[in-house]
Amino acid sequence: MLRAGQTVIFPTETVYGLGADATNPAAVTAIYAAKQRPADNPLIVHIWHHDQVDELACNLPDYARQLIREFFPGPFSLLLPKRPLIPDITTAGSSKVCLRMPSLELARRFLELSGRPVAAPSANLSGRPSPTRWQDCLEDMDGRVGAILTGPEAAFGLESTIVDASGPVPVLLRPGAITLEQLRLVVPEIATNQKLVREITPGMKYRHYAPEARVYLVTPGEVPALPVDRAGYIGLTPPAFEPAYQLLAANLQDYGRQLFSFFRECDRRGLNTILAQTVDQKGLGRAIMNRLRKAAA
Ligand code: TXA
Ligand code: MG
Repeated sequence: MLRAGQTVIFPTETVYGLGADATNPAAVTAIYAAKQRPADNPLIVHIWHHDQVDELACNLPDYARQLIREFFPGPFSLLLPKRPLIPDITTAGSSKVCLRMPSLELARRFLELSGRPVAAPSANLSGRPSPTRWQDCLEDMDGRVGAILTGPEAAFGLESTIVDASGPVPVLLRPGAITLEQLRLVVPEIATNQKLVREITPGMKYRHYAPEARVYLVTPGEVPALPVDRAGYIGLTPPAFEPAYQLLAANLQDYGRQLFSFFRECDRRGLNTILAQTVDQKGLGRAIMNRLRKAAA
């Protein structure tokens, strides 16, 4: 189906992706249509083999090679100058392409059998929380795609870490499961400047990760000044109030893994408010706070 230009949803270790042949403009157009994604928001291109990096990208700085050696395959994407094999529509007109090599074995086998670089955004309708289970994909995309390859629940549950490696200094564009601390061990000079991030990443201006319910952040021990009778709560420690539904995460990994499916569960339960506990901006906490702030915006 993928080779025939159709869309196929497939599992990865971060979130499910809505895939199509990245070298086929008509197939890529079908991704934008299925997701109702704005045409100026570029797509990540998925690969299964290291040799594909130099087929699809060029002018790699030394630090990009180091990052690839360290973090491909894994929950990590790298923005690089693109080669002509990737059409402009895949990168929304940008001269740069974002490459990712998933580590989930089922994803890699799917990519390899397709024989194509696969463009894939998260397999949610634009603006909704990313899908971490195939059932979430069905909820958003039933009738809108060619097929769903059903696989396991996503191990990380948050989208990949994205680093811009097209300039002299690497820039962290999106925090994820590969943490800033891990990146600094490889590229100590990495920048996190938010103004730069907004300039480089077209997708940042759009509403993100949002359930129907309004999301508010609460600090540990805080009692919110709103009614909580139809509120869901997610956090690391028990709330200082009585929500209608709650999910206590065992640790940061568990919080990140379950966050988006918790958002969707609150919507299915018809809750109108979500109270999410803030965490420290350390390690995986940076990615969790990034998604929480966007969901609450
Ligand atoms: O974990 C992930 O990265 C998942 C799985 C399916 O691989 N994919 C994912 O894709 O999260 P998406 O489209 O939901 O988020 C990709 C982000 C967007 O904010 C987009 O603007 C940015 O990456 N991006 C992709 N290609 C880019 C490019 N050429 N230049 C700048 N930003 C780019
Ligand atoms: Mg997305």
